[in-house]
Amino acid sequence: RTLESLGDLAGKRVFVRCDFNVPLSDGAITDDGRIRAALPTISALLAAGAKVVTSSHLGRPKGEPDAAYSLAPVAARLGELLGSPVAFATDTVGASAQETVAALETGQVAVLENLRFNAGETSKDDAERRAFAEQLAEFADVMVSDGFGVVHRKQASVYELAEILPSAAGKLVAHEVSVLERLLESPEEPYTVVLGGSKVSDKLGVIDSLLPRVNKILIGGGMAYTFLAARGHAIGKSLVEVDQIDTAKRYMAQADEQGVDLLVPIDSLMASSFSADAEFENAPSEDLEGTPYGADALGLDIGPATGALFAEAIRSSKTVFWNGPMGVFEFPNFAGGTKAVAEALTQTDGLTVVGGGDSAAAARTLGFADEQFGHVSTGGGASLEFLEGKKLPGLEVLGWA
Ligand code: 3PG
Repeated sequence: RTLESLGDLAGKRVFVRCDFNVPLSDGAITDDGRIRAALPTISALLAAGAKVVTSSHLGRPKGEPDAAYSLAPVAARLGELLGSPVAFATDTVGASAQETVAALETGQVAVLENLRFNAGETSKDDAERRAFAEQLAEFADVMVSDGFGVVHRKQASVYELAEILPSAAGKLVAHEVSVLERLLESPEEPYTVVLGGSKVSDKLGVIDSLLPRVNKILIGGGMAYTFLAARGHAIGKSLVEVDQIDTAKRYMAQADEQGVDLLVPIDSLMASSFSADAEFENAPSEDLEGTPYGADALGLDIGPATGALFAEAIRSSKTVFWNGPMGVFEFPNFAGGTKAVAEALTQTDGLTVVGGGDSAAAARTLGFADEQFGHVSTGGGASLEFLEGKKLPGLEVLGWA
């Protein structure tokens, strides 16, 4: 159900469930991508003459108020981006929220405090979630679900609220779904998936789902060392999931059988320690312990030859999905691999999708703009679960099969 299905919204109160779970440092927002991504829906509702009540979770507070996770900075930033101040309620369903919503006029926006300051939001008990959703429902005539990053969560404001009120997907959710569906259903070939990040175990579902669909899988990041260990290479003190070595072997065998090119790093930057100013040397995968740091060395980035190999594979593809950094990109010396991959995506003539909070944040930190990619998903876990083919509660409740 899309926004249009809600009919004439003039004068109506619309609750928009957003994902404003943005990174903060000392109370300041360091990446406002998720707030910007909510603007098309909020602006469309304002243009339609609605009164917009919005809220989100931020972080994982423990079901009670916690100033470190307040949405106050988000409300301020949203006001700046909209070019008009937004009202902020200092609680979610209490007196402040009630007064704020009651005072709201057509064309105005109110942000209610962090939904997870209320135990009912994430409760495992259906009745508790339902009771909290009933309280939220008091504030609106209809509900718009636009927090794509949270559609994989069965939580009160995502699921039960959408059951109670007439509800529809916002523009962000509808767009995310349409792009991710293309990755599953009609990808143009060659189709390449680039996976990084620290753990193989986080990516099992997505590898299972995509291995039969793609032409190439490029593996970098910390998870690559489990694959290199599976190939029999000594990897020093690099990250490894010993219990996933057999899984990595199985994936490599399956890729071979299915004619999928599964590429692992051919070289790595091996560092003396895990720090921004660690000494490091590039080493081929056959001899990762051959640097001065020997068996104590840690692989903190793919090497330049791997970067070039991956970039070439990406640029010659028609569909690319990338999830997970290639190295410890937060340390400038170990950002080269992630940069090479991001740059190659921007040079690809085809559909390029950056999935996941970490990869999007990495690309932005390294100076890339979202517009340089085909699509930058606002969902980390949600985009992966979508591509795993899982049923997502927040989409099911809106009538998605
Ligand atoms: C995310 O950052 O992936 C979403 O905002 C969901 O957050 P959660 O994992 O705390 O539910």
